[in-house]
Amino acid sequence: MSLVLVLYHSQEHGNTQAMAEAVAEGARDAGAKVKLVNTNEHRFDPDQYRKIDAAAFGTPDYFGYIAGGLKTFADDWYIAKGKDRQGLEGKPYGLFYSHGGGGNVREPFEKLFKYVGGKQVGETIESRGKPTAAVLRACRELGAELAVVK
Ligand SMILES: Cc1cc2nc3c(=O)[nH]c(=O)nc-3n(C[C@H](O)[C@H](O)[C@H](O)COP(=O)(O)O)c2cc1C
Repeated sequence: MSLVLVLYHSQEHGNTQAMAEAVAEGARDAGAKVKLVNTNEHRFDPDQYRKIDAAAFGTPDYFGYIAGGLKTFADDWYIAKGKDRQGLEGKPYGLFYSHGGGGNVREPFEKLFKYVGGKQVGETIESRGKPTAAVLRACRELGAELAVVK
C-alpha cells in the first residue's frame, strides 16, 4: 500500500483545506494510506518525507506567492537534504492552489516544487474562492493518480 502525503496551508476560509481533503479522499479510495497535514497547524518534519511514495502540495495565493507555512517545508527539506540526501530526493507530486481573483502564485509555486519534487503528476489545479464541484472532482482524481504512481 502506498503512502501519499497531502501537505497544504489553509488559514483564511478553509478553501485550500477543502481541496486537500478531496485529494486525500481520492487517494484513499484508490487504496493508498494518506498523511494530511495543514502547515498552519503543524510544521512538517522533512525526515517524514523519506517515508512517502508521492505527495500533493496545496497553497492559497498570498501576495502572489506561496503561503509561509508551505514555503517553510521547502526550506526545511532543502536543509535536511543537504545534510543527508538518503530518501529525500524528489517524489512524484501534484499541485493545487486557491486564490481570491489574482492567482499569480501559479508560476512561483510550479517553479519551487519542480525543484523540490520529482515529476509532476497531472495538471496544477486552480480554484477561485470556495472550490466548485468540478474543482473537488479534479482534486479527487489527482489523489487517485498519486495513489498508484510509480
Ligand atoms: C495574507 C493574504 C494575502 C492574499 N493575497 C492574495 C493575492 O495576492 N491574490 C489573490 O488572488 N488572493 C489573495 N488572497 C486570498 C486567498 O488566496 C484566498 O482567499 C484563498 O482562497 C484562501 O485560502 P484558505 O481559505 O485555504 O486559507 C490573500 C489572502 C490572504 C490572507
